[in-house]
Amino acid sequence: MIHDIKKVLIMKEDIAARIQELGQEITKKYRGKELVIVGVLKGSFIFMADLVRAIEIPLQVEFVELSSYGMGTESSGTITVRKDISRDLKGEEVLIVEDIIDTGHTMAFLKEHLEQKGAASVSICAFLDKAQRREAKIKADYVGFSVPNEFIVGYGLDYGEKYRNLPYVGVLKEEIYQKGK
Ligand code: IMP
Ligand code: MG
Repeated sequence: MIHDIKKVLIMKEDIAARIQELGQEITKKYRGKELVIVGVLKGSFIFMADLVRAIEIPLQVEFVELSSYGMGTESSGTITVRKDISRDLKGEEVLIVEDIIDTGHTMAFLKEHLEQKGAASVSICAFLDKAQRREAKIKADYVGFSVPNEFIVGYGLDYGEKYRNLPYVGVLKEEIYQKGK
């Protein structure tokens, strides 16, 4: 698996340190309130697990699953809900937790989708931000790291469902996804 990685972008120690900072920031922002954290399956599962343990206010966790890249590296632009959240969001403070914002279509869609359920607020915490690629008008309220326009795997992010279990964030060698084309 490590032979498929061109370079390590973010080491696990730096990820851990940044998540503590994000947790503190979110704790301060929502002090005195309660949060509903909505994780986007599957990519956010590792980030979300670490982030919720760095947040010191009461919270609940929910998950959504949206249509994804499938086996390729390009987003289709059309998003559908595969698994919706199973509770009422009326009047709730909602924080979406996402692995990476690329074109932004996924987050634009999900934010609107959750707002329509009557949430008091819907904010976004993205582990990674590939801002260069943005097409939709959407901005994360909290960002772990900005990353260059390269295909990234590890710490929850996959290519063809693999590499999610790498403890760091790395750039995948082009030859790996060229093969799949
Ligand atoms: P967007 O709708 O283009 O912003 O795409 C967001 C989704 O595409 C994310 O939730 C990821 O699952 C996936 N994605 C985008 N860029 C990458 C990447 O570099 N590596 C792995 N997944 C990615
Ligand atoms: Mg995703």
